[in-house]
Amino acid sequence: MTDSGAAATGWLIDRSLEALAAGQHPSGALIASPDFRPYHFCWVRDGTFCAYALDRWGRHQAAARFYRFVAKAINDFMRGQGLESDGSTNSAFPPTRFTMEGQVADDGWPNFQLDGYGTWLWGLSEHARLSGSSRLWDEFAQPIEFLCRQLEHLWPLPCFDCWEEDGERVHTSTLACIATGLHCAGSATNRLSASRAAEAIDTFVAEHAVLDGRLVKSIGRRSIDASLLWLSMPFPVAPVEEAVRVETAEAVRSELGYPGISRYQGDRYYGGGSWPLLTAWYGWCCVSAGQSDDARQCLAWIEEQAGPDGSLPEQVDGIHRDPFAYQEWVRQGGRPARQLLWSHAMYLVLADELGCHAGQAAVP
Ligand code: BGC
Repeated sequence: MTDSGAAATGWLIDRSLEALAAGQHPSGALIASPDFRPYHFCWVRDGTFCAYALDRWGRHQAAARFYRFVAKAINDFMRGQGLESDGSTNSAFPPTRFTMEGQVADDGWPNFQLDGYGTWLWGLSEHARLSGSSRLWDEFAQPIEFLCRQLEHLWPLPCFDCWEEDGERVHTSTLACIATGLHCAGSATNRLSASRAAEAIDTFVAEHAVLDGRLVKSIGRRSIDASLLWLSMPFPVAPVEEAVRVETAEAVRSELGYPGISRYQGDRYYGGGSWPLLTAWYGWCCVSAGQSDDARQCLAWIEEQAGPDGSLPEQVDGIHRDPFAYQEWVRQGGRPARQLLWSHAMYLVLADELGCHAGQAAVP
């Protein structure tokens, strides 16, 4: 990397760390986006990847505040519903996002999404590894028990996917998140039923989510979705062969654009542009496959998408964007998020994977 390239990277790393710090409420909640009203909530999914990035960049206290926020929100949810749930109904499952004060957000968007809590359990174990302290596992014994019980029962049910769509199906990346989360919880808390359920999901994915040597977006639906990259990093489902992951990542690259990767073909949300966070994900997979030139190209592409103040948007124009669908969404909901914390988080993950250095920001 040239000196000016390294300086641009250092600058954006600083802006990204600042964005995460500024987006954290005193409650510990991390806002999805400060400039897009429908995202003025804390998503468990987005927040966990932000906390993971914070941990990777040494901000362990900020990460712990987020994990505590979610643990408390789950406890409050359990109490509010008077639940001693046996995990057999989806209405007893905690919501996918909370207000910044930890209440259930009543915004009409679908809530039954299982991926975020699997991701949260994984994040907790990464927090323990990266911070060197596993005390949160003990502190959260009750909400973890509750979550595990629920996920062990509910994983075979259809739920909304990580894009909050298609609630009629079972989604491959969702299963990978749950399996990884349950594996983590099983080994951190010696919970045998969690480990057993995780193994059952692994087997199910290997048997039902691979068709013609590639992963499928959802069970019974042969199409490519960028979230399938999660089965390369960081949620590999052990029995799925490496060749299948490689073939899937290549399909993502050829069908969804490179380096600006979109979610899936036919995506209507803001016309289905290119997502910096998915480009960072692809770059992360490239690093782990030893293709660091491609990973650097992903990093450089993301840097080109940053606003003058260093904000990273949710999505930008891309080869697949449908201009009519874009205009229709803008007409109904205003412009899409100009600063998405999850985009900053994934940029930080990729920059760290590539051994890049921050600029001037002091560690708080
Ligand atoms: C995306 C979700 C994301 C949420 C908040 C939605 O549009 O599909 O994946 O968690 O925005 O960023």
